[in-house]
Amino acid sequence: MKSFFNAEDIGDLGKALKEALEVKANPFGYQHLGKNRTIMIVFFNSSLRTRLSTQKAALNLGMSPIVLNIGQDSWKLETELGVVMDSDKSEHLREAIPVIGSYCDIIGVRSFAGLTDREFDYNETILKQFIEYSGKPVISLESATVHPCQAFADLITIEEHRKSARPKVVMTWAPHPKALPQAVPNSFAQWMCAADVDFVIAQPEGYELDPKFTKGAKIEYDQMKALEGADFVYAKNWSCPGVTDPSKYGQILSKDMGWTVDARHMAVTNDAYFMHCLPVRRNMIVSDEVIDSPRSLVIPEAANRVVSAQVVIKRMLEEL
Ligand code: CP
Repeated sequence: MKSFFNAEDIGDLGKALKEALEVKANPFGYQHLGKNRTIMIVFFNSSLRTRLSTQKAALNLGMSPIVLNIGQDSWKLETELGVVMDSDKSEHLREAIPVIGSYCDIIGVRSFAGLTDREFDYNETILKQFIEYSGKPVISLESATVHPCQAFADLITIEEHRKSARPKVVMTWAPHPKALPQAVPNSFAQWMCAADVDFVIAQPEGYELDPKFTKGAKIEYDQMKALEGADFVYAKNWSCPGVTDPSKYGQILSKDMGWTVDARHMAVTNDAYFMHCLPVRRNMIVSDEVIDSPRSLVIPEAANRVVSAQVVIKRMLEEL
């Protein structure tokens, strides 16, 4: 695997899930793969889970992880090509990336969408430069449009808790005070569409995700109707993806608190499990009652971030 970006990069999902459960049962069984190998974990944005789980996965595999916080530990980096560099950004990605690549064997990059220029974000302009100029395998640790390590961890969690061969999984939009990227819902939709589940997206009008991520999903604008009979409820906010109206890209179109997932919503489900990638705004996205209930999977879901990262890094190490 030269890069980990889309669901198709992991290949057969059944095989990947089997490997994930095997790695989870035997986390230190592949330490020989990472001996004398280094992973550089580069953050342009904040993180708790991704930062810790990627390091833990690398350590489990016997690797040395190095974390770099761009603009804090390093110079601020210019990401646009062809600009006069007279701002506070002292170094260009064009030099920084090959330098980073020369110090490691694998690179993980977190670089959120700016939410102002849809073309720049949806072309994955920053991640693609890492792939092109580093000469090393690159993992998206949430880039502008995708968060594949999260979606893989979510799929592992569903696999561990499903009670039927083809569970109903509902991803519902929920309100948030700030404009958030679409990376998590894009990847969750992409992975659920590829998995053997009955997948429904519940959202207000105008929040349609890019169709390249939602092929096969059912879109429902009535949240309660969508949630009926659900086995898993995956709550997430996202800002306007700008699909139907590009001028609204990155905007907040609704703060309707009626979409906050609470006991009333969960009551129409099939005693569903609640999921969220975290960090979560309590009583905006989900009520205390639901996230604190025994049906909440948010902690095991976060724990599985180590497993998903470890499978991806393991596969990359096997190909070095
Ligand atoms: N879910 C997730 O990616 O969490 P962090 O932003 O804390 O890494």
